[in-house]
This record gives sequence, C-alpha cells and structure tokens, in this order.
Amino acid sequence: MLRTLPLLLIASFSIGCQCTTALDVLSDTSPSDSDLVDSEGPLEDTAPVRYHADDYFEPDVHGLEAKLATLVCVSCHGEDLMGMGRAASCDSCHPDGWRQDCVFCHGGIADQTGAPPLHISGAADGPDASFIPHQAHVVDTDTHVAFGCVQCHAVPLDVLSQGHLFLGDASPARAETDFSGGIDSTVGWDDSRTCVSSWCHGDGQGATGRVEHSDEVADCAACHESTDSGSGGWLRMTGEHDEHLDRGLSCSHCHGDVAGEGDAIIGLSLHVNGENDIAIGDTWVSWEGGSCDGLCHTDGFWYWHWSSGWE
Ligand code: HEC
Ligand code: HEC
Ligand code: HEC
Ligand code: HEC
Ligand code: HEC
Ligand code: HEC
Repeated sequence: MLRTLPLLLIASFSIGCQCTTALDVLSDTSPSDSDLVDSEGPLEDTAPVRYHADDYFEPDVHGLEAKLATLVCVSCHGEDLMGMGRAASCDSCHPDGWRQDCVFCHGGIADQTGAPPLHISGAADGPDASFIPHQAHVVDTDTHVAFGCVQCHAVPLDVLSQGHLFLGDASPARAETDFSGGIDSTVGWDDSRTCVSSWCHGDGQGATGRVEHSDEVADCAACHESTDSGSGGWLRMTGEHDEHLDRGLSCSHCHGDVAGEGDAIIGLSLHVNGENDIAIGDTWVSWEGGSCDGLCHTDGFWYWHWSSGWE
C-alpha cells in the first residue's frame, strides 16, 4: 500500500483530480491571529484554522481514526463522504473503487476476501486478534468448502452500508457478528472469544460444540466420533453406529457422498452443511430416514441376526 501522501497527492494532482481542498489545507501557511496586526490594530482573521492535526493526511493517522471511529467523519465530510465545505471528499485522494474494496481496510494478507489477518487495528493475527481462525473458515480446506462471511456477519456492500462503520454502526470500532444468515444461527459468541452451543463444532446430534478462537481443531474427533474412537465413542453416536463400525464398516459405507477412502472428505460441500447426509453404497439397502430397509437386514444375510433397523 502506498503510505506516502505527498507522492500520491503530486501524482493525483498531476492527473487532474479534485484534490484542491486537501492541497489548500496541506499548504495552509496562513498567519495566526496574533500575526495579523497592523498599525490600525488587529485585522479580522478570515484565514481557515485547521481542524485536524497537521499530520492528518497520513493514512496511518486519519485511516486509523476512521476505522476506530474516533471521530464521526460523516458529520463534517458528508453522509456520502463526498465532502462539505472545507472538509474534502474522501474520494479526492483515494484510488477509484476504494469504497467497495474490502482489502482497503482489512484482510489482504492471507487472501483477498477481506477477512483478517490485518485487523482494523492494523495488527495481524496474534494475541490481540478478535477472531484468529478466519482463514480456517473462509477458504476451502480438506474438510469443508469456504464459508462465506454471511455465516457469521451481516455482509456490507461498501463503506456506507448501514451498520458497517460510517453509518448506523451501533458498536463503533468493534466488528459485529450476526449468525442469523448461516447454518449455525443459534451459536453464541461473546467476549470470551468462544463459540458456544455450536452445531458446526458439535457431534451432529445438536448444537453441542464449544470451541475457543485460539483452539486447534486438529482432527475428525475434535467434533464427533471417528474411526479411531472405538466402541466407547461409537456408542455415543446415534442408532447402530457401534454395531456397524465394530464389524469393520467404514464411514464411507453409509456416508459415501461425504467420506471416501481413508476417511478423506470427498463431499466438501456436504460436510458441515447443517444436515446429516446418508448415501449407502449397497444398492440393495436404503435409508428410510429413521430405519434401513433392504437385504443387509434380512435374516441370515450376515452371520448375525439383525432386523431392528437403525433406531
Ligand atoms: C468537525 C468536523 C470534522 C470531522 C468530524 C472530521 N473532519 Fe476531516 N476535515 C475537516 C476539515 C474542516 C478539513 C479541512 C482541513 C482542516 O481544517 O483540518 C478536513 C480535512 C480532512 C482530511 C484532509 C487532510 C488534512 O489533514 O486536511 C482528511 C484526510 C480528513 N479530514 C479525514 C477525516 C476522517 C477520517 C474523519 C473521521 C475519523 C474526519 N476527517 C472527521 C473537518 C472534519
Ligand atoms: C489528503 C488526501 C486524503 C483524503 C482527503 C482522505 N484520505 Fe484516506 N487515505 C489517503 C491515502 C493516501 C491513503 C492510503 C491509500 C492506499 O494505501 O492506497 C488513505 C487511506 C485511508 C484508509 C485506510 C488506512 C489503512 O491503513 O487501512 C482509510 C480508512 C481512510 N483513508 C479513510 C478516509 C476517510 C474516511 C476520508 C474522508 C473523511 C479520507 N480517508 C480522506 C489520503 C486521503
Ligand atoms: C474504509 C474502511 C473499510 C472498507 C473499505 C471495508 N471495511 Fe469492513 N469494516 C471496517 C471496519 C472499521 C470494521 C469494524 C468496525 C465496526 O464494525 O465498527 C469493519 C467490519 C466488517 C465486517 C464485520 C461486521 C461489521 O460490520 O462489523 C465485515 C463482514 C466487513 N467489514 C466486510 C467488508 C466487506 C465485504 C467490504 C468490501 C465490500 C468491506 N468490509 C470494506 C472498515 C472497512
Ligand atoms: C465462522 C465465523 C466467521 C466467518 C465465516 C467470518 N468471520 Fe469475521 N469475525 C468473526 C468473529 C467471531 C469476529 C470477532 C467479532 C468480535 O470482535 O467479537 C470477526 C471479526 C471480523 C472483523 C474485525 C476484525 C477486527 O479487527 O476486530 C472483520 C473485518 C471481519 N471479521 C471480516 C470478515 C469477512 C470479510 C469475512 C468473509 C470473507 C468474515 N469475516 C468471515 C467470525 C467470522
Ligand atoms: C451403517 C451405516 C453407517 C456407518 C458405517 C456410519 N454411519 Fe454415520 N450415520 C448413519 C446414519 C443412518 C445416520 C443418521 C442418523 C439419523 O439421522 O437418525 C448417521 C449419522 C451420523 C452423524 C450425525 C450424528 C449422529 O450421531 O447421528 C455423524 C456425525 C456421523 N454419522 C458420522 C459418521 C462417521 C464419522 C462414521 C465413520 C466413523 C460413520 N458415521 C459411519 C449411518 C452410518
Ligand atoms: C469442525 C468440526 C468437524 C470436524 C473437524 C469434522 N467434522 Fe464431520 N461432521 C461435523 C458436523 C457438524 C457434522 C454433522 C452433519 C453436517 O452438518 O454436515 C459432521 C458429519 C460427518 C459425517 C456424516 C455425513 C454428513 O456430513 O452429514 C461424516 C461421515 C463425517 N462428518 C466425517 C468426518 C471426518 C472423516 C472428519 C475428519 C477428516 C470430520 N468429519 C471432521 C463436524 C466436523
């Protein structure tokens, strides 16, 4: 990012942008009241007195104040930020499209989605980050497709969207979460930086998950039982998981759209999508949404008697 304003001003002025107000301001060497005295006594001072500090043109200075909402920028620079009186339009110096450019203010380090790292404070992910695992969510991984921002936020279209930062923002300098548009709409998130009652991090039987934003979600068993859990774990799953897994069936046998060989997730868009997806490999058996129907479960098909269905 270009951080030296004088260069930008010279460049943009030379291509004829509307920077006059800002330039006037920056080159304002008007005398102060006490200098404006002649033999007749003090003159009325009509020279503008600067409102901002002299270094305010620096992106790190005014940019940070805008992001932290230290001042209400729109009250002087206009509701549309197009400028009012001496207070210049923000567009007079910024590159075209900055209002819709999500990485103008946040994100832009790990990917171009706009999700941090690069938080509004300017810090990259670390102890002060408000939500460390953005990357684990917003890009494709081995276990799920990229989740859109809408899973956890109301998504602004530009800088003037209500509730974003300049207009109608009830919690200035603090990103709001809003899970109502996602698959985990009742998940809780608070100052403890922990997702509580989470479906996504749960066992698939309800909103049972709890995960702190600094936790590592290392393997399958971080959320639900896995091939390695053994009978003790499989018994905590619904229905007849234990009966089947104990006899060596793999996850892929009944969840063939989701899990493949070696428990690799092959159906990324079906995993952690809010629904339990069943796809039984055997053509002679079908899942009836509560019980199984088909040849597996007739007497003598296997060496054990088993006809009770799933539940
Ligand atoms: C009380 C009115 C007022 C508020 C609030 C205000 N400005 Fe200004 N701004 C001005 C005026 C007046 C100027 C013209 C120069 C001056 O007087 O400082 C200006 C100029 C600027 C400039 C041009 C560079 C400079 O130093 O002159 C920038 C950048 C700027 N404002 C950014 C912001 C941002 C960002 C906010 C919100 C965080 C903000 N302003 C809030 C009145 C205001
Ligand atoms: C005098 C010229 C000038 C004016 C006027 C101006 N800016 Fe900037 N601003 C800059 C420059 C230069 C950058 C850096 C742009 C870049 O990196 O591409 C910047 C960057 C920013 C950033 C990003 C900073 C960061 O580090 O993430 C914000 C936020 C910002 N400006 C807010 C505003 C707002 C709000 C206004 C209007 C109230 C405004 N600016 C008016 C020159 C200006
Ligand atoms: C001028 C700087 C700026 C630009 C450009 C910008 N944002 Fe933001 N955004 C912020 C700030 C500051 C916050 C957090 C503070 C707040 O909400 O008060 C924020 C918060 C967010 C949040 C969290 C929810 C919220 O509203 O608090 C999302 C999601 C978001 N931005 C997405 C986007 C997207 C998508 C774009 C591009 C269309 C974008 N932002 C462009 C400054 C910006
Ligand atoms: C899995 C949920 C989740 C997803 C998906 C998500 N975010 Fe966030 N985001 C959060 C949480 C939680 C916070 C911290 C809110 C707080 O401060 O309490 C946050 C904070 C932020 C912040 C403010 C960071 C700061 O400096 O404090 C921005 C900006 C942001 N998100 C943008 C995005 C964008 C853009 C996307 C989509 C590309 C996105 N987020 C996707 C959960 C998410
Ligand atoms: C014999 C078939 C079968 C096998 C093998 C199987 N599942 Fe299931 N699984 C099901 C059925 C059927 C359901 C749906 C239960 C319902 O919705 O009532 C289900 C549901 C689930 C759920 C939702 C939560 C729950 O306990 O119901 C998860 C998570 C799950 N399976 C994971 C796995 C994993 C991981 C494996 C491999 C270690 C596996 N399953 C092996 C048939 C199977
Ligand atoms: C972040 C938590 C999480 C992790 C990690 C995770 N799962 Fe899941 N998994 C879920 C949830 C939640 C469900 C419930 C169904 C849904 O929403 O897709 C599920 C469901 C399943 C199912 C049932 C089919 C389905 O998607 O409905 C299988 C099979 C499965 N997971 C296998 C795995 C395997 C194998 C791994 C490790 C490679 C793994 N899971 C890692 C959260 C997780």
